[in-house]
Amino acid sequence: MQKENKIEEISRRRGFFWTSSEIYGGLSGFYDYAHLGTALKNKWENIWRKFFLGLDDNFFEISPTEIMHEKVWQASGHVESFVDPVVKCKKCGNVERADKLLEEHLKESFEGISLNDLAEVIKKNNVKCPKCKGPLEEIGVLNLMFPVMIGNDVKAYLRGETAQGAYVNFNREFECLRKKLPLGLAIIGRAYRNEISPRNLLIRMREFTQAELQIFFDSEKIEQHSKFAEIKNYKLHVYPTKNRDDNKTNQVTCEEMTKHLPEFYVFHMAKVQQFFFDVLKIPKEIFRFKELSDEEKAFYNKYHWDIEIKLESLGGFVEVGGVHYRTDHDLSGHQKFSKQDLSVFADNKRLVPHVLELSFGVDRNIYALLELSYKEDKERTFFAFPRALSPFDCAVFPLVNKDGLDKKAEEIKALMKQRFSVFYDDSGSIGRRYRRMDEIGVPLSVTCDHQTLDDKTVTIRDRDTMKQVRVKITNLNEVLQRFLEGEELESLGVPVKKFIGNDE
Ligand code: GAP
Repeated sequence: MQKENKIEEISRRRGFFWTSSEIYGGLSGFYDYAHLGTALKNKWENIWRKFFLGLDDNFFEISPTEIMHEKVWQASGHVESFVDPVVKCKKCGNVERADKLLEEHLKESFEGISLNDLAEVIKKNNVKCPKCKGPLEEIGVLNLMFPVMIGNDVKAYLRGETAQGAYVNFNREFECLRKKLPLGLAIIGRAYRNEISPRNLLIRMREFTQAELQIFFDSEKIEQHSKFAEIKNYKLHVYPTKNRDDNKTNQVTCEEMTKHLPEFYVFHMAKVQQFFFDVLKIPKEIFRFKELSDEEKAFYNKYHWDIEIKLESLGGFVEVGGVHYRTDHDLSGHQKFSKQDLSVFADNKRLVPHVLELSFGVDRNIYALLELSYKEDKERTFFAFPRALSPFDCAVFPLVNKDGLDKKAEEIKALMKQRFSVFYDDSGSIGRRYRRMDEIGVPLSVTCDHQTLDDKTVTIRDRDTMKQVRVKITNLNEVLQRFLEGEELESLGVPVKKFIGNDE
């Protein structure tokens, strides 16, 4: 079975995600997160919050609405420019996104290519409709924004990106806060895009979640960052446009990168990479920043490097986020459309701040996490999620459901639930319960057995190594904390003579 199909199958069987409105046949491009997927996504979002809001005391999270004024999207340029190229089949009427269709067909990128050039490539390669093999009609564009009506006559839009919520609130927040720059406004929430051809599960959806940080700063200070010295020798994994032919990723120090990009920009690239390497534990060799050419850049960006991760199921690198220097494109646009002065007084002058945006697609990151963590060996399949990201921190079981072990296990669960997310399971053999926890990626299982009643110790088992040690019940919360922070199981307790339940 292909990896994507395996992830989909386990997701549906165990409860990570599945098609939305399924009992009515489903809706293409819409997925519901089930109980495990929601727990995983919450963990990811909380870790993102902690890391990125922790970068500066003047960074905060806000929660603007998802339906926003029509003018917001006119001012931002989305009504006019947020379009994808499409082709329609003459025979069956199927509409496809032209650049993605060619990408799948010819295995190279066609992002940002002009409509005329796309039409040429389709003709030259005799590309047909993927559904009925019919001929493809002329190429056109389709806007991605979802319009909504409020009452009978007020037009608005579901937000196409969370970012605009930060721009329209910037002035108020600046006044409420310390009136100083840089000011960061983070939003984690849904965005909506009428994608022509949604596909690859959580990778291209019509309703998805973004985690975005908008950093408002004085553009005259773009060549400096007060903490740059800390990362100047740190090596970034970069894939500049000039490497496209040999497909090579370079490792370049931040100091070296400032020959091509401003210090403020490079500093934040380093922080993004550290988030992926040190927090999400993404293998270094499958991560890169991809520089976009002028044709490929989003219409609002001056500098645009995508964050990419290599995924087997997608046959190569996939964009999971981006570092965007949006200049004053958005604030000046809103100033013009709203006729409000959006300049602020900072650094002894009046200015319209510029914006550096750190943008992440949460669902694409969750999909990547599922695919990269999925492991199978002769005996079992399991998700080796980074411990701190697993849907549950630990599981608690009584070895058998009698002799007072069930009561003891319930007590242990209650003790641990005060601090951690705990999954309790008392059905089936102990071996089957371990396998179930492996399959949903719970990093540690705690088993209460007959010895527990004698000496108040329990067995703890590591999902990845299947090794087991015994620890005192009174130490359990501290032991779990240390385990989640990365300590080896062996250093946390006394080895057990015989592992139980591993080979059932
Ligand atoms: N505010 C900037 C912005 O929205 P973007 O590159 O259009 O930039 C940011 O989107 C991220 O959102 C992407 O890198 C991707 O991870 C995610 N994303 C975009 N479209 C998506 C879709 N249709 N389904 C799932 N994730 C998507």
